[in-house]
Amino acid sequence: MSAPLPQGEEKARAVQGLFDTIADRYDLVNRVMTLGMDVGWRRRAVRSLRLPGGSIVADLACGTGDFCRELQRSGYRAIGFDFALGMLRRARTDAPLVQADVLRMPLADTCVDGATCGFALRNVIDLAALFSEMARVVRPGGRIALLETSEPDGPLMRAGHRAYFRRVVPLVGGTLSDRAAYTYLPRSTAYLPPPQTMLAMVGAVGFLDVERIQVSGGISQLIVGTRG
Ligand SMILES: C[S@@+](CC[C@H](N)C(=O)[O-])C[C@H]1O[C@@H](n2cnc3c(N)ncnc32)[C@H](O)[C@@H]1O
Repeated sequence: MSAPLPQGEEKARAVQGLFDTIADRYDLVNRVMTLGMDVGWRRRAVRSLRLPGGSIVADLACGTGDFCRELQRSGYRAIGFDFALGMLRRARTDAPLVQADVLRMPLADTCVDGATCGFALRNVIDLAALFSEMARVVRPGGRIALLETSEPDGPLMRAGHRAYFRRVVPLVGGTLSDRAAYTYLPRSTAYLPPPQTMLAMVGAVGFLDVERIQVSGGISQLIVGTRG
């Protein structure tokens, strides 16, 4: 029996500490574990923003800056926010980065044109509060693109994905980085509400045309929407 997943402030401290611990090899493990697919997922998310060149996009939970780099490559002005200093220190981007809790960003209301968030929905302690914070900072007409891991719909793909996520990820992550962290990360998907609930939550804070796109056979999901 594994220990129950942490909640509230205990979870926030655990998540911050975990990412500080794995920051050094975070990018390497990501590339190996997704067979490089994570790069294409971020590229697709950025493409789905469809904002004018020069738009300001906040990347929430930016980690080592992969989304910021992709945003800049696409002609956007990116600003990254993350609370794990270890991740920010290893960031490979010249976008401005801010150490902050994404549930309380030091940004004025409606001051950005868009927001992205990669693989962090399951990491925050209050998902509804995260969506509200996005709705607060994104201007009307602005866009969001949120990436998160997902389970495929088909039973066969789902079984294969579960085996990979629960057995291979801790093994590979443990070999290249930290076993405890890469045992926790697959387990943390349990924090995610079902897709329809998540879409309803995004709509409830004021985003329109909210859509969920399954990527790479459903092992990843992209949620997009327009601020009403
Ligand atoms: C799985 S990493 C994703 C990093 C990056 N977005 C990417 O696409 O690779 C999750 C990140 O979320 C950050 N994070 C989690 N909760 C946060 C919070 N409440 N405020 C700021 N950053 C947070 C962690 O520090 C970590 O860097």
